[in-house]
Amino acid sequence: MRRLILLFTLLFASNSTWAAAANNGRGTNNFHTEVIVVLFLVAVLLLIVALVLLKTVSVMAREIKSPTQIPVNEPAKMLEYHEWEATQEYIKSSKPSIWTKLMGLRPLSEEKDMMLDHDFDGITELDNPTPAWFNVLFYGSILFGAVYLLNYHVFKWSPLQDEEYVIEMKSAEVEKAAYLAKAGNLIDENSVKIDNSPEIIAAGKAVYVQNCVACHLNDGGGSVGPNLTDEFWIHGGTISSIFKTIKYGVPEKGMIAWEKTLTAKQTADLSNFILSLKGTKPANPKEPQGVQL
Ligand code: HEC
Repeated sequence: MRRLILLFTLLFASNSTWAAAANNGRGTNNFHTEVIVVLFLVAVLLLIVALVLLKTVSVMAREIKSPTQIPVNEPAKMLEYHEWEATQEYIKSSKPSIWTKLMGLRPLSEEKDMMLDHDFDGITELDNPTPAWFNVLFYGSILFGAVYLLNYHVFKWSPLQDEEYVIEMKSAEVEKAAYLAKAGNLIDENSVKIDNSPEIIAAGKAVYVQNCVACHLNDGGGSVGPNLTDEFWIHGGTISSIFKTIKYGVPEKGMIAWEKTLTAKQTADLSNFILSLKGTKPANPKEPQGVQL
């Protein structure tokens, strides 16, 4: 009973703590429905805990007043031999399980048939059959070895590791090229980078010679289009503005939009090539146009 009283005192104490917490919440204007729900859930939880404790205490009290009598087990009876044999006969007559078969187990009653002649001071040996799982593994690995040998070394149907490596590397190369080509086409005016490595400049020059010389001349000196070698730019001389001019063009002034004709990679190479023309001396430079950079 004293425990019960203690329990309820504790319960009330915790309840008032929660009440105080709730008041605090309201005081700081952060009092939301969620808080009420949480408090409610906590109260329910506390109630459940209290009930469980109450139950425990009452069971304990009952146990102290009148302890339950634990029945003392009778000692296990030893089997007579014929009784034991009967159980073995029963086991023998029942169908062997998959496990017994797999393990190659024989019922105890068959032991006398499996006894070896070998006898050492009354200790004898059983000629147990090899378990099925072992046989499967054993003959399976022989078969595997034979198939492997024929496949890899006699008929050479499948490639050996070294060949396999070469094949993988080749296909990776193809994938890499495809990826790079795609990645190259992901370039736009925002991501294009200055790159004056010879391959890039050469690639840009090739595209330039094919598409741009009619209006900008071979050396970039300019005819219909402006001089690309000087420091004057109508549409900006940074890599990204050049890229943009080529990509979108200035159709109303006679500069085609190359977006549809050239890939982004080609446009980037071109932009780098045009930047590399800066400071070169064309044969007939066109007069400066635009603003000086
Ligand atoms: C049909 C003639 C023509 C062809 C072909 C041509 N352009 Fe132009 N390009 C022009 C004209 C005209 C302008 C000037 C546009 C303006 O006045 O705004 C120009 C302007 C430019 C500019 C901007 C120059 C500046 O000062 O801002 C760049 C860069 C340029 N072209 C690059 C190219 C490239 C690269 C090619 C080849 C892919 C090319 N152009 C092909 C006619 C051409």
